[in-house]
Amino acid sequence: MSDILLACNHLKKYFPTPAGYLHAVDDINLTIPRGKTLGIVGESGCGKSTLGRCILRLIEPTSGEVLFDGRDVTKMDQKELHKMRREMQLIFQDPYASLNPRKTVFQTISEPMRIYGICKDKADLERRTLELMDTVGLSDRYINTYPHEIDGGRRQRIGIARALSLDPKFVVCDEPVSALDVSIQAQILNLMMDLQDKMGLTYMFITHNLSVVKHISDEIAVLYLGQMVERAPRNELFSNPAHPYTQALLSAIPIPALGYKDKEPELIRGEVSSPINPKPGCRFAPRCPYATKQCQEEQPMRDLGNGHIVACHRCGGAPANAGAAEMAAG
Ligand SMILES: Nc1ncnc2c1ncn2[C@@H]1O[C@H](COP(=O)(O)OP(=O)(O)O)[C@@H](O)[C@H]1O
Ligand SMILES: [Mg+2]
Repeated sequence: MSDILLACNHLKKYFPTPAGYLHAVDDINLTIPRGKTLGIVGESGCGKSTLGRCILRLIEPTSGEVLFDGRDVTKMDQKELHKMRREMQLIFQDPYASLNPRKTVFQTISEPMRIYGICKDKADLERRTLELMDTVGLSDRYINTYPHEIDGGRRQRIGIARALSLDPKFVVCDEPVSALDVSIQAQILNLMMDLQDKMGLTYMFITHNLSVVKHISDEIAVLYLGQMVERAPRNELFSNPAHPYTQALLSAIPIPALGYKDKEPELIRGEVSSPINPKPGCRFAPRCPYATKQCQEEQPMRDLGNGHIVACHRCGGAPANAGAAEMAAG
């Protein structure tokens, strides 16, 4: 058994628009080892949710592979997909929008188990639902309440219980704490880390906020306009960010423990360029303080060692092996 649970190879999602193809996800290669968390970070609109949805095949990728436990999700028929969906789940940003307002906590959490017929009878379903509520720290007195009667933190616990109800292996967490108060965010992140340990879960944790993925991620990938610009183990990314975009993201958040607190935030200049029919070369070049003519022409992947890969020619390092993801997955 490979220790890689999930791998994407050359994954692309282009949306047709009247002005041309919008490159929402553009040739992404990544791997996630079993039981680990890959954080996916980038500004709003850079393709994070589209990437998550393509991986779960909630939308059809334009091309590329998504290998889950070695099997290509993009080639599965409906029956195989239905089976596979038990093992791959999604936790949404805004549980208020994703929970059906007319369903009680019991109905919401138990629905996937009902659909998959994994409980023998109503009593079994209720017992299993109460167990899940306990697992996510939700008191049983909420079992017959509706989403609007519950606060944001508890609503996200319902979303988590529902996602875990079929005992998945892999969970895409799409901005799961971004709609919550800062004080509640830490509670939910701690819960998610506990559950990962207990259930051996593998996470892809999507957020626009680097400080949120700091604790939960083993590795972090930074996205810019549909492309991965840098990927590194968590501590390496925070202590030694290589891509000018990652450096700008990091300098915009205070990280006292790492000595960033005295630095003036280095604001990113200029507008994000259009993701429609993007020009060749580095997409960050128009905003990059270090950009040269070469950046307009090419954007080579560099391998800095220790799992640190960056899409920038000025960062040194050896040429990165484009097929690294395939090799790890095979
Ligand atoms: N269904 C769609 N049709 C056309 N464009 C889309 C669609 N969904 C997302 N996009 C575009 O794809 C890009 C990435 O969007 P998204 O994945 O939601 O970004 P993020 O989650 O990082 O904020 C954006 O430019 C967005 O406008
Ligand atoms: Mg999103």
